[in-house]
Amino acid sequence: MTGSDFVVVANRLPVDLETLPDGSTRWKRSPGGLVTALEPILRGTQGAWVGWPGVPDVEPEPLIEDGVELHSVPLSAKEVSDYYEGFSNATLWPLYHDVIVKPEYDRKWWSAYVEVNRRFAEATAKVAADGATVWIQDYQLQLVPKMLRMLRPDLTIGFFLHIPFPPVELFMQMPWRTEIVEGLLGADLIGFHLPGGAQNFLYLARRLAGQSTSRGSIGVRSKLGVVQVGFRTVRVGAFPISIDSGQLDEASKSKSIRDRAKQIRKDLGSPKHIMLGVDRLDYTKGIDVRLNALRELLDEGRVDPEETALVQLATPSRERVDSYVKMRGDIEQQVGRINGEYARVGHPVVHYLHRPVPRDELIAFFVAADVMLVTPLRDGMNLVAKEYIACHSDLDGALVLSEFTGAAAELRQAYLCNPHDLDSVKDAMMSAIDQDRETRRRLMRALRRQVLTHDVDRWAKSFLSALGNGEVGGSALMSN
Ligand code: ADP
Ligand code: F6P
Repeated sequence: MTGSDFVVVANRLPVDLETLPDGSTRWKRSPGGLVTALEPILRGTQGAWVGWPGVPDVEPEPLIEDGVELHSVPLSAKEVSDYYEGFSNATLWPLYHDVIVKPEYDRKWWSAYVEVNRRFAEATAKVAADGATVWIQDYQLQLVPKMLRMLRPDLTIGFFLHIPFPPVELFMQMPWRTEIVEGLLGADLIGFHLPGGAQNFLYLARRLAGQSTSRGSIGVRSKLGVVQVGFRTVRVGAFPISIDSGQLDEASKSKSIRDRAKQIRKDLGSPKHIMLGVDRLDYTKGIDVRLNALRELLDEGRVDPEETALVQLATPSRERVDSYVKMRGDIEQQVGRINGEYARVGHPVVHYLHRPVPRDELIAFFVAADVMLVTPLRDGMNLVAKEYIACHSDLDGALVLSEFTGAAAELRQAYLCNPHDLDSVKDAMMSAIDQDRETRRRLMRALRRQVLTHDVDRWAKSFLSALGNGEVGGSALMSN
């Protein structure tokens, strides 16, 4: 059999097909952290990527982009609605993010999820070479490992979850909880961002799938857990994802980007403090939290509207899912309220852009910002926090970071806050604004050491080498 020796499978291809007003089409970069992380890994490997082209009812021919073969899995409009907007983003997404909004359990959506996962497994089985390594990504495709193993037992199969794996008590709500655990157990290695998620999964493999598991604690990139599935050994580990930090560090030092950053400050009216938020417009990101905190700080006179600008860049996301529609309205109302009360003509306090920003422009915003606000209620990792740090070789910046992000486990020198406690967020913002220069530089230096030495290449290598060497790091097995 011919085919690719290394195949990434993800809900989306790294590029989305866009239809222009004249009916012609073009490819544009897909949103989200998964693509940011995996794109540099795959570039130049001559691997393949299997995914949905981002719009319903199209099936573009396979194409090669940066040496990577892109294979489309088409979805009908009904499947986009039931599998993607429904089960993936109105059931799994809120359930895995601490039920910030209530997950909906719909049997029709579940059937679509099973059917689409089967289609992804079949497409992958056709693309993978004999004995290939296949790396399946994220919560949209949790059944693919088992389905693919049944079709192609010769493959080495890895799975990585880019979002948090929930506490056991929450996961137990899921009507199809056993099927999901068994689906994941089709992989040889299952990766999570944090040891806690891996540990939760081990417990569920024992309780729901009745398998024996190791009992020792799981480490970061070390001490893998083990599930014995018949004659197969499935390993479970924690592999915190990262960014191409070297590339961002380089880009952020270029003259054109530094000039653009200066221009941004000027365009904002040369405020003393530029604060920045960069997110997909998602209710998990706590954009409302930082806006509320800013409004209270303005009300209390702790922040001067003449000296401060908050730029919020928000990429449109999942725009047909009800909770996202409502959240957009709420956030835009908050922005309007702050500006209504504190702006002058030609001098808003909050600058809000509801669109993706080109990469170089985004880097210039990171360089220009004095304080980065990352305040999710829950986030698997949050790459934006790491991107900001990578762009501050000048050591002149401060990161306010929610404790409920995966990144907080690594970025201990950030101004950490609890997004459920507005006073904690306000205090972190004020410390970040007021901190003396020496302390700020010392903290940023330590943060940069972490981000520059733990880049996305290291993440991928640690996962793939664990997948490749089949090493078992756990201790004695524990039965149900
Ligand atoms: P998620 O995967 O949930 O979207 P992450 O923070 O892990 O969250 O990754 C988001 C990625 O999308 C980052 O690489 C970030 O730079 C990019 N991004 C977010 N908002 C924008 C925006 N408005 N314009 C351009 N890129 C953005
Ligand atoms: O990991 C978070 C994630 O859901 C990725 O799977 C996805 O690429 C990204 O966010 C963007 O979400 P969506 O594909 O639903 O636009």
